Amino acid sequence: MLILSIETSCDETSVAIIGDNCAILANLVSSQIDLHRKYGGIVPEIASRKHIEVINPLIKEALEKAKISFKDLTAVAVTYGPGLIGSLLVGLSAAKAIAYGLNIPLLGVNHLAGHIYANFITSNIKHQTSKSTSKSQFPFICLLVSGGHTMLVLVESHGKYKTLGRTRDDAAGEAFDKIARFLNLGYPGGPIIDKLAKTGNPQAIAFKRPMIEGSYGYDFSFSGLKTAVINLVSREQSYSIADIAASFQQAVVDVLVDKTIRAADEYNCQTIALAGGVSANSQLRTELQARGQAAGLEVIIPDLEFCTDNAAMIGAAAYYQLTNHSPQVTAHYDLSPVASLRL
Ligand code: KG4
Ligand code: ZN
Repeated sequence: MLILSIETSCDETSVAIIGDNCAILANLVSSQIDLHRKYGGIVPEIASRKHIEVINPLIKEALEKAKISFKDLTAVAVTYGPGLIGSLLVGLSAAKAIAYGLNIPLLGVNHLAGHIYANFITSNIKHQTSKSTSKSQFPFICLLVSGGHTMLVLVESHGKYKTLGRTRDDAAGEAFDKIARFLNLGYPGGPIIDKLAKTGNPQAIAFKRPMIEGSYGYDFSFSGLKTAVINLVSREQSYSIADIAASFQQAVVDVLVDKTIRAADEYNCQTIALAGGVSANSQLRTELQARGQAAGLEVIIPDLEFCTDNAAMIGAAAYYQLTNHSPQVTAHYDLSPVASLRL
């Protein structure tokens, strides 16, 4: 099995090669962050143009890294949504051309499913069978937190998801990015605030923990917290930026971790997993691990390189689609990008 996978949903062009047992033989990521930084966010037109420039050399480099050639490939997998339509089109067109030229299956992968499958790269879930008595098996709860999404997902089996809750306004990563922009700290805000928070006091400011109570179910809201930070900074000059960053981050982490553990309890899951760009957050990783373990749960957290957008996670999702563990089948050449594709 040799799957070429392509991810171009946002501002990262990424190509990976996945082998037997979901082994990652190559995972190359070409980030455009430097191009977008001066605008304080992603400019879609610039993103798609850059994907066009980079995609073919990156595919060639990935094949070289894996020491294989086009004719060795078994299938081509590509993200077809959600994401920026122009960016998605570039990856999709490249994938279709390769699949057609080689007469091999084309697999369309949902980007959000890809994030969840980052956990199958580094965890041992993939080695479990339904008969296993080990704790690492379906169903599990996945906290999916990225720049565009914040969701709690019950993963019942391969490719079978139930969304328990989602954000009603800003995604968690979006709140990090917007606050960093307001504080003139740079872009993207998540890694900057993460670093700054390490030098601040997380108890300095008692921001409200939005929708943390059980009565709100598993939905989230981060827009009010973002406004509270902005209002505080505009009103008061007495707090250090590090204390503000640490207190804001603590509020976000408290809500995310609380709801994840509560969902595991309610849905009788022994395992919780983390996914999406915000899963790179050091405090979220530490606290989910600690509080999950204290609650007797197995906690799975992807390696950092598989947290933010990458093609290896898309290839991992495709691997399970192709090996028939998943209900989703191979795609046709008329597969179109879907900007707001749901899980
Ligand atoms: O999954 P991703 O790469 O792209 C989307 O699908 O959205 O996530 C990007 C998001 C950005 O909002 C970024 O600020 C956030 O992930 N992020 C972080 C960290 N690293 C990336 N947020 C908090 N702490 C981090 N260390
Ligand atoms: Zn993503």
